[in-house]
Amino acid sequence: MDSSKPVKAVKDVVEAAAAKVAEALTSEVPGAPGSAPATVDEPTAPKGPLPPKKEQGAPDTRTPTGAETGAPAESKGQQGAFLTTSQGARLRDTDHSLKAGPRGPILLQDHHFREKITHFDHERIPERVVHARGAGAHGVFTGYGAAQKVTKAGFLAKGKETPVFVRFSTVLGSRGSADTVRDTRGFATKFYTDEGTFDLVANNIPVFFIQDAIKFPDIIHAGKPHPDREIPQAQSAHDTFWDFVSLHTEAQHHTIWNMSDRGIPRSYRTMEGFGVHTFRLVDAAGETVLVKFHWKPKLGVHSLDWEEAQIAAGVDPDFHRRDLYDAIEAGAFPEWELGIQVFPDTPEETFAGIDLLDPTKIVPEELAPVQPVGKLVLNRTPRNFFAETEQVAFHLGHLPPGIDVTNDPLLQGRLFSYVDTQLTRLGGPNFSQIPINRPHAPVNDMLRDGFHQHAVHAGVAPYRPNSLDGGNPFTTEENAFLDLPVVVAEAPKVRANPASFDDHYSQVRLFWLSMSPVEKEHIIRAYTFELGKCYEQAIKERQLQCLANIDPVLCAEVAKGLGLPAPEPTVPLADVHPSPALSQIGRMWPADGRLIGIVVDPAVGLDDVGPVRRAVFAAGMVPLLIAPYGGVVDGMPVQRTFATARSVEFDAILVAGAPAPAADALPVRDAKAGAAGSLAVDPRVVLLVDEAWRHAKAIGAWGNGLTVLQEAGVAGTPGVVTAESGEDALTAVQQLLAAHRVWERFPASVA
Ligand code: HEM
Repeated sequence: MDSSKPVKAVKDVVEAAAAKVAEALTSEVPGAPGSAPATVDEPTAPKGPLPPKKEQGAPDTRTPTGAETGAPAESKGQQGAFLTTSQGARLRDTDHSLKAGPRGPILLQDHHFREKITHFDHERIPERVVHARGAGAHGVFTGYGAAQKVTKAGFLAKGKETPVFVRFSTVLGSRGSADTVRDTRGFATKFYTDEGTFDLVANNIPVFFIQDAIKFPDIIHAGKPHPDREIPQAQSAHDTFWDFVSLHTEAQHHTIWNMSDRGIPRSYRTMEGFGVHTFRLVDAAGETVLVKFHWKPKLGVHSLDWEEAQIAAGVDPDFHRRDLYDAIEAGAFPEWELGIQVFPDTPEETFAGIDLLDPTKIVPEELAPVQPVGKLVLNRTPRNFFAETEQVAFHLGHLPPGIDVTNDPLLQGRLFSYVDTQLTRLGGPNFSQIPINRPHAPVNDMLRDGFHQHAVHAGVAPYRPNSLDGGNPFTTEENAFLDLPVVVAEAPKVRANPASFDDHYSQVRLFWLSMSPVEKEHIIRAYTFELGKCYEQAIKERQLQCLANIDPVLCAEVAKGLGLPAPEPTVPLADVHPSPALSQIGRMWPADGRLIGIVVDPAVGLDDVGPVRRAVFAAGMVPLLIAPYGGVVDGMPVQRTFATARSVEFDAILVAGAPAPAADALPVRDAKAGAAGSLAVDPRVVLLVDEAWRHAKAIGAWGNGLTVLQEAGVAGTPGVVTAESGEDALTAVQQLLAAHRVWERFPASVA
């Protein structure tokens, strides 16, 4: 008898089961690394390159001068069946260097070894000096036509579609830092318009720390880790940050936004974006208006709870990146509307008494409504992080005809800084020829040579005037960028701000008074935490003085937490009208792409789980089954086990069963198993529900699942629904999700 036969039969069964799991995982739930399941054994014969994953897209195939090449995007990747050198010679072996005998030294002549190692040694480029940590996606922008009465920019025309690339980022952390830190988020959009690239380099906070760009190195040096120990990473809870913002009080407005829930977004998909500065739009007749740009997310503005953010930073440092990519892969394409606030272009450059050149001020939406002018949909993830997300280069001077800048002194400085830094970061002046940066409008400049020149320029006369190239290229009036002849008032050359920039507190107070009680609690908590992490008493006292100038309640509550007396204000408290539009709470939003964790107990029947799972998919959300062990249960893939699941990943929890403690529910094996003392139910399930409850998430249970609610002590509390069936539980949970959280669970102590 051939003894290998039973072994082979077992192996076949195991492989078939593994293939089924792999297929289930890749076909339904986002996150699988490749476009096809991997095999257990290392493949021995080439099968041809795998296609990219269905949701991935690469930059358009354009020449360095913007012309369409017609080549498929795959043509750029080196993805063939046979390994070659960089020059295309096929290789026999890449696992052993060429040596003088198996035990001898490596030979200098090993050109493959040298090429491979040399290239590897130079793989890194400097990370961005700020906004180093980011995630990007491709998409499309469609104009509504509404902006055409104020600008001639063609990409805003009705129905006009323009490809875009968006990069979201944190500001302070290094490339490898966690996503969910308390920080401002970047929201930079490259519109590849037919009339030249437009970069809207925005943030998720509408004001900035400083009024003059010359202070940028100061605020960044203060916010970055301390220069001696290089800690703390990616956060503002340290002495140098608070030292600066409490002395340079124009930073107080931006700071309160960071201390609010805006500083810890739930997702990039749930962030607003703001161009911050006032821009100038010009129409076909040369008439101008002043505008502020806003991005409004379809899913509403939604943030993490602070504890949730901290847990996520540990259990999933890529929380926002993963969320963006998974949502796109699941077909829940993130969407925003671009809107503008429009102001008359008067010589004073003010609106309702607000200086439009002061980047520490907003114009409340109640005074100037945000008018929608187009829609952004992100529908493709990058194929290669480095080539696209890392090499993309934004610049505020990338302006198409119809959009111009103002004299905002922060904006003016930014016009210098971005290209300047990219010269170093991207290794020379030709970074606009990197595929992700190539314009889609024809490029006909007279810039020549330099490091990494990709264009093969024809012609002999890259200068003007010339006769040798027939005088080409010519300048034109036709749809050309117009430097508006804005009048600059006669004035002495000074290093000074306008007097209107001196008001550092009134809008901070406006923001505070516009918050709901629970949002105010979160702000108090954030200041108390951050200042509590400072060592220097003087810095805490100085910041408390700033808080006193914002609001006595805010100051008193934070002072209590710090164990310090609350000072009296040193400036009169501003008499301001709250702006309800600044609060995140009180509206209802779609639940697209939200993650629903479903706890199952494979020891009992799972008949009712399949329909719930399908209903979650049908509602445009993503179901993730959580079971005691991995693999497939009842034909459905298990995406999380009790060991790998953590509540922060889910927007809501459905409890379909009350699984008994699994074999690995031992504190020594899984720290989470020690967290709750239940004997009847796996303690990690109890912790999951308990945490979800603490973070005010919707929880639904039916059947045996009700036992878990009892064990966690949450039964009958707000936002915890029990139902006859899984589908009923889902319907109730979905309704709760529309408000983002079960806000009643956070009792507020301040009004
Ligand atoms: C309203 C104020 C500001 C906003 C909204 C803003 C926004 C951004 C964003 C979103 C990025 C990331 C771009 C990307 O994803 O590649 C960025 C990067 C950067 N910003 Fe700003 N920024 C502001 C102020 C400034 C100022 C005042 C300066 C300097 C004077 C500055 C210098 C830089 C630099 C050097 C980078 C790195 C660019 C690169 O390496 O490609 N920013 N900024």
